Amino acid sequence: MMQGKKILLCVSGGIAVYKAAALTSKLVQEGAQVKVIMTESARNFVAPLTFQALSRQDVYWDTFDEKDSSKIAHIDLADWADLVLVAPATANIIGKLANGIADDMITTTILATTAKVWIAPAMNVHMYDHPAVKRNIDILFEFGYQFVEPSEGYLACGYVGKGRLEEPEKVVELISDYFSNGDKETMLLRGKKVVITAGPTREMVDPVRFFSNRSTGKMGFSLAEAAVSLGAEVLLISGPSELPVPKGVEYVSVTSAEDMYNAVHEAFPAADIVVKSAAVADYRPKEILGDKLKKKDGNLVIEFERTKDILMSLGERKTHQYLIGFAAETTNVIEYARAKLEKKRADMIVANNVKESGSGFGTDTNKVIIVTNRGKDRELPLLSKVEVAKEIFKEAIAQMEKGTAHERS
Ligand code: CTP
Repeated sequence: MMQGKKILLCVSGGIAVYKAAALTSKLVQEGAQVKVIMTESARNFVAPLTFQALSRQDVYWDTFDEKDSSKIAHIDLADWADLVLVAPATANIIGKLANGIADDMITTTILATTAKVWIAPAMNVHMYDHPAVKRNIDILFEFGYQFVEPSEGYLACGYVGKGRLEEPEKVVELISDYFSNGDKETMLLRGKKVVITAGPTREMVDPVRFFSNRSTGKMGFSLAEAAVSLGAEVLLISGPSELPVPKGVEYVSVTSAEDMYNAVHEAFPAADIVVKSAAVADYRPKEILGDKLKKKDGNLVIEFERTKDILMSLGERKTHQYLIGFAAETTNVIEYARAKLEKKRADMIVANNVKESGSGFGTDTNKVIIVTNRGKDRELPLLSKVEVAKEIFKEAIAQMEKGTAHERS
C-alpha cells in the first residue's frame, strides 16, 4: 500500500533519532519515497548522511540552504508530502508547533503543509507528563494532528516509563493502514441509521437534588460527529451535557436512566447500529420525594434500587442491530470487557482504563481496546475522541460485512 507514497519524515533531536534511521530504511523497503528534514539538534545524534544514504534523497535542515534555485524548499516539501511524520518529536518541537513558531526547516514546512501530520513523541516520562507538554499536545489534537503514542519501557535517561518512540515496525504498520483505509472510509456509514447514547444520567432524590457521575458526553458527541461525517443518519440520545450538538445530528435530551431506556427502545427497531456510550446510573433512589428533603439530626440513609440495564435489554431484543457497549475500568480491563460482551449479548465492547492519562472523563483523547467475539482484541493508540469514534465504526462495518458474507455462504 505504500508504493510511491511520499512521506516527509521530520526528525527532531532526541536519542531516538537512531530509530528514525531504521524507520526510513523500512519505509523505503516498503516502496515509499522518503524525504528527511532534521533539526540542528538531531544532527548531533546522527549525521544527515545516514538519512541521505537510506532514503537516497537530499536531506534538509537549513531553511536558507536552497538546493534548487527554481524552488523554495520548505514550500516545495510541504506540497510534495502525502504524509508528514515527526519522529522522534521532542517536547521542544511539539511546543513550537502548538504555538505556530516557525524558526527552522521543520516548523516552517509543517506550517505550510496541507498534508496529514502525524507526531510520534519521544522524551523522558516526566517531560511527557508535564502540563506544558500535555497542553501543547491537546492543541495539536485540535489542529487535527494525529499521534503515534510513545510506548512504555526502558528510557535512555535511565527511567522506565512512557516516552519511548514507538518501534519502527509498528509505525510502518500504522502508516500502511492509513494509506490502505484512509480514502475508503469517507462514506462508510451511508444508508445506515445509528443511535448513540451519551453523557451521564441524573437520578433525582427530591426536586432539587440528584445522583449523577462525571461523564461529560464528549465520547458520545464525538461518535455522533464521526458517524455524520461517515454518512450515517444519526440520533443522539443524551443525558445532561454542556456540549454543542454536532451539525446534522437529531438530538433527544433525557435525564434519568428510565428516560434513556424509553428513548432508546423507541428508536431501536429502525436502527442498524446502536452505540451505548452513556454512563448510565446503575442505581437510583427507590423513592423520589415530591418535596425537598429537610435536614434532621443524625445520618441520612437513602435506599437505592437497580435501574434497568439498557444495553442488556437491547441485547435480548436485537434482531439485525449491531450493538456496541462501553466499559470504563480501572483494573483487568480486557477480562471485564469480555465478560460484559457476553453477559449483555453485545457485538463489541469498547474498553478503556480510566486511570490512564489521556483517557476517560472530560478529555479530548481516549485510548481504547476494541473487544469483539470475532477476531483479536484491537488496542488503539492514543487518539482524539473523533478518531477513536471513526475506528469504532470502521471495525463495526468490517464485522457487519463479514457477518453478512458468513450468512450468505
Ligand atoms: N449500561 C446500560 N444501562 C445501564 C448501565 C450500563 O446500558 N443501566 C451500558 C453502558 O452504556 C455501557 C455498558 O453498559 O455501554 C457499561 O456496562 P456496565 O456493566 O454498566 O459498566 P459498569 O457500571 O462500569 O460496570 P460494573 O459496575 O459492573 O463494573
